[in-house]
Parts: sequence; C-alpha cells; structure tokens
Amino acid sequence: MTHPDYPLLARQLEALLDTRDWLVNSAQTCAFIMQQVPNLNWVGFYLQRHPELLTLGPFQGKPACNPIPFHKGVCGAAARSLQCQRIDDVHAIADHIACDADSNAELVIPVLVEGSLWGVLDLDSPLVGRFTAADQAGIEALVEIFVMKSDLSGFAFGQ
Ligand code: SME
Repeated sequence: MTHPDYPLLARQLEALLDTRDWLVNSAQTCAFIMQQVPNLNWVGFYLQRHPELLTLGPFQGKPACNPIPFHKGVCGAAARSLQCQRIDDVHAIADHIACDADSNAELVIPVLVEGSLWGVLDLDSPLVGRFTAADQAGIEALVEIFVMKSDLSGFAFGQ
C-alpha cells in the first residue's frame, strides 16, 4: 500500500479551503481525504449540535447512522474522552456501531474549538489495522487545518 505524503496533503488542503464557511470546508475536507488516502470506505463529520449527541454532517460513502449518542460506539468514545480513537478491528469493540458491514478499521478524531468539542471526524476502512500512528498524526494535522481555516464559532452546541 502506498503511504500518503501527509505534509503534501496538508499544503494541498490548506490551499483548497479558501473560504471561512465551515459547511463548505467540512464537505471539501472529507471529499479530499476520501480521494487522497487509500483504502477508505467512509469519511465524514459528526457534529455536536445537541447535548451528549452527535449528528451526521458532511460525509463521503454510504448513508450512515444518525444520531450517535455519546455513550455508544467509537465516535461516542472520542466525543466523551476528547481523545482520538484508533481501532484496528472494530469487531473487537463491544458497542461498535456497524453502519457498513465493509468497515473493519476505524479512526475517529475529535474536532476541538478552544478546547471544546465541535464534532468528530470519522474514517472507516475495510482493511483490518489500516490506520497506523503515522496516519493518525497525518489526519490530525489535516483536522487542525480544517479548524484553522473555518469559522466554527456560533455553531457548536453551547455557543
Ligand atoms: N462505527 C462508528 C459509527 C459511525 S460509522 O462508522 C459511519 C461508531 O462505532 O461510532
């Protein structure tokens, strides 16, 4: 498998996000990741628009589960803990929410604005063990660019 050149992807995403509009930028970010990172079957945002609940946002892939409560699944764990969740095989996770039977590995990155949860970015892959620590660091850097380039205030729950 070819490994993405994440520093290059970061520069390309920075150039692509040429508006402050979070909706445009979130749609572009997941389309960009889906095109540039190999072996993914789903990439998308879940937004925190209600207390303790994630709402499906812009995504690429099959129609997905909505909503996801904070107490369930890998996305819920990321939202509760504010920690990235990197899972080699989701079938080993008891409360994993199976939206697509093809998904085996999952990477969920909390999107934080000034330390508060705005949402999460969820990546799914059909390949067990697809996401390495290098993928996590690379995708986290892309999420930082999305946050830096977007006006996210006035939308997340509680703001
Ligand atoms: N598998 C996720 C649910 C979201 S979908 O993969 C798009 C979870 O367990 O939180």
